[in-house]
Amino acid sequence: MLIKDISKYAGQEFEVKGWLYNKRSSGSIAFLELRDGSGFVQAVVVKAGVGEETWANAEKLTQESSLIVKGKVSKHPKQEGVFELQVSDIQVAQIAEEYPITKKEHGPDFLLDNRHLWLRSKKQWAIQRVRDIVISAIYDYFHEKSFIKIDTPIITPNACEGATTLFGIQYFDEGEVFLSQSGQLYLEAAVMSVGRGFDFGPTFRAEKSKTKRHLTEFWMMDAEAAFVEHNENMDIQEGMIKFIIKRCLEKCQEELTILERNQEPLKKLLNLPFVRLTYSEAMEKLHSLGSDIKFGEDLGNDDEGLLTQNSDVPVFIHKWPKSIKPFYMKRDSANPDLVLNDDLIGIEGAGEIIGGSQREDDYEVLKAEIEKEGLKGPEYQWYLDLRKYGSVPHSGFGLGLERTVGWMCGAQHIRETIPFPRLINRVRP
Ligand code: 4AD
Ligand code: MG
Repeated sequence: MLIKDISKYAGQEFEVKGWLYNKRSSGSIAFLELRDGSGFVQAVVVKAGVGEETWANAEKLTQESSLIVKGKVSKHPKQEGVFELQVSDIQVAQIAEEYPITKKEHGPDFLLDNRHLWLRSKKQWAIQRVRDIVISAIYDYFHEKSFIKIDTPIITPNACEGATTLFGIQYFDEGEVFLSQSGQLYLEAAVMSVGRGFDFGPTFRAEKSKTKRHLTEFWMMDAEAAFVEHNENMDIQEGMIKFIIKRCLEKCQEELTILERNQEPLKKLLNLPFVRLTYSEAMEKLHSLGSDIKFGEDLGNDDEGLLTQNSDVPVFIHKWPKSIKPFYMKRDSANPDLVLNDDLIGIEGAGEIIGGSQREDDYEVLKAEIEKEGLKGPEYQWYLDLRKYGSVPHSGFGLGLERTVGWMCGAQHIRETIPFPRLINRVRP
């Protein structure tokens, strides 16, 4: 029996195996808020209506004590559709010591030091459940679109996203290798076998950024498809984001309510096309809004904010200058100084949630780019091979899971969206 199913037991006996989340008692009646992982329920203990031992147990329960509670399911006297438990028996599994996380406000460092306990708080519980729904939505979207799941390696001898953010590890006699920044390069190889694929796993960046949107370990979903070109690549991304949002609105009503998430902006964008601005158009817009960004510079937080501030929909910024983008991106034949890439900027301050591009598919051009970036030739020979044996136009993108979940939840900082965040100044617990 799980609390999430309690409505099916109206009028019947029910058993909750879980923890005490909160308690109020007047001396003759106690209201216990119980949680079992699947949900929360109020349990009512009436002193005159239960045995002495059960009342004594109710009295001694402390926050987060573990217990088994039996009783009859009844309708909440005031709240429509809400059920509660009229308690007949309480068995205590363990009386918890004084719990460090109480109802009072705690600072972020204290909460992060106690992340192993903080995870039990209602909002944190809700965020992890939204994360689970986002993950399963991604799998479902890609399977519907005939992409298959491909597992790419985490230990790799090459760099996908620039050598400056690599985490190195000592690998037996091989010397230094790295933790993956993105499975993209391996996924490109795999889709030349399976046509369309996606991976989903932890990725690592030794980024010295202390922003609300940077983790050193985060989860990325890379997708890749043969014979897909730049515009279709953006269509697939837009479809995926709408699919995720729709799923969250369907499946996460309780969670979004706990998180006090205003759902209107999410609902609204479902029926609207996303805005697509070229990098040049974005520059013009930024200048007209007073930004002093120069052509050829990356967009900062503030620029992303300006570009989306009055937008009901996420904004694609596409066709960036080649000079600030990685070696694998294909040049735009109409202007070889630009590449066929896109960043998708979410609304409501979500920031860049996707980075994608069409890939260079010409052997000689790609080889020259790899050399120009000073990357170690031999580690990329297998990648170049893909351009030797049946090369095809192909494109893909990577979605940051934590930024997406943060946006869905309206979370202030993405560190709350991963169970145990790794930040530049935090590896514990
Ligand atoms: O834009 P990025 O760097 O793109 C790639 O890694 C490509 N190889 C993906 C591909 O084409 N298959 O990263 C993709 C996304 C970003 O848009 C962002 O959402 C997230 O990953 N991301 C981070 N999330 C949290 N912390 C960080 N340090 C992140 N760096 C990137
Ligand atoms: Mg990016």
